[in-house]
Formats: sequence, C-alpha cells, structure tokens
Amino acid sequence: MLDTLEAPPAFGQPIPLRGPCVSTLDLLANRRSTSAMLLSAPAPTAPELDQILTLAARAPDHGKLFPWRFIIIEGQAKVSFAERLEVIGQARPDCNKAVAALGKLKTPPLCVAVVSRVTEGKIPEWEQVLSSGAVCMNMLLAAAALGYGANWITDWYSYDPQALAMLGLGEGERVAGYLHIGTPIEPQLERARPDMAAIVSRLEAV
Ligand SMILES: Cc1cc2nc3c(=O)[nH]c(=O)nc-3n(C[C@H](O)[C@H](O)[C@H](O)COP(=O)(O)O)c2cc1C
Repeated sequence: MLDTLEAPPAFGQPIPLRGPCVSTLDLLANRRSTSAMLLSAPAPTAPELDQILTLAARAPDHGKLFPWRFIIIEGQAKVSFAERLEVIGQARPDCNKAVAALGKLKTPPLCVAVVSRVTEGKIPEWEQVLSSGAVCMNMLLAAAALGYGANWITDWYSYDPQALAMLGLGEGERVAGYLHIGTPIEPQLERARPDMAAIVSRLEAV
C-alpha cells in the first residue's frame, strides 16, 4: 500500500487542479494484462486490496447510483467456489474446455468479481453497465500502479445461471468481470494494437 498517497479531500471540498502526470501516462502506455495462469502469490495485502477497491469505485457513474458491487473471492472460499464450478462445468457440452478454463480462477491468489447492478429509473441501463466497465478498468490500473498483475476475465461462469446463483447474485445483477490479481511470474509480451488511423475520424462541419 502506498501510504504516501494523499487522501482525497472530504465530501464537497475542492480537489486541487493538477498538471501533467508522467507516471500515469507511463502506466497507461505500458500496462498489459497478465495472463491469469502467470499470476502467483503474493496477492495484494488487505490494506492494498482496500485501496484498489476504493480507487476502482471512483469510476464515473451517471446519477451517483454506484451501479456495481464487489465480491472478494480468495483462500478456501475460492477453492470451494472453483470445486463447485467444476461440477457444473463437467455437465456442460463443452466440459473439457469449461473445466480447463477454471485454471484461470484457481491459479491466481486473489479474485474480485465486479457485479453490475442496474437500477431502474432515468439513467439508461447502457450507461450503468458502462460504468461497471470503467470500474474494472480502474481496478486493473490501480493493481498495476501498486506493482501487481491483473486480468479481467469473464469466461463461462459469468453467464451460467447456476454459477451466478452460487455467487449470490440477485435479480438484475450480472458479472462485469472476474478480476484476477497477483504477482506476475514473467513479463508479458506486447500485443497487437489498433491502427489508430483506422479508428479515428473527425466529424466534418456541414
Ligand atoms: C469484458 C471483458 C471480458 C474478457 N473476458 C475474457 C475471457 O473470458 N478470457 C480471456 O482470455 N480474456 C478475456 N478478456 C481479455 C483480457 O482481459 C485482456 O483484455 C486481454 O488479455 C489483453 O489485455 P491488455 O490489453 O490489458 O493486455 C476480456 C476482456 C474484457 C474487456
């Protein structure tokens, strides 16, 4: 945990304006997800996890609905969750693949399920779901900033009704992702990146 991190001002107090932050740009330019199979102990400590979740929860959120929540899955609870998923996985038509995919849950020392929970009202569902994605991204960044590796994974058990019931999801709740966190055992290779010219355009005045 970085104790030197300044706590944000109290509610309603001004947050000081900041200039450029080279270390943030460096993190954004160089961060890669670590393959879950390459995530080992140590996991973030309890205060570090607290910090990661607190920073993740600072994601943009239209309407201040906090349309997400976290479920920490670690230790014996993770072992038994994986065992119970394995039983469900074995009954699936793609059983070999489904069971093998559980390695990504079993191997890393820590998993956080980010649960999207949409509130009916004037804020469109789409925007509330997008906010959950922003939370996941913030979590990847916070974990990386603390020196850990992380991987945002959904896999079949984000969609399987029995698996969701085991996780205790309620009506209207969905898994935005399982965030696997730990210490990378080897560096990742850079991956393909988009051709920026192909995805950036400029609206012309008419
Ligand atoms: C919503 C979402 C779900 C994902 N689910 C999976 C998954 O189930 N299995 C997988 O191998 N990668 C999955 N990924 C991809 C990885 O998280 C990651 O994006 C990829 O390994 C490269 O990431 P990087 O650019 O952060 O290095 C998912 C990504 C997103 C955004």
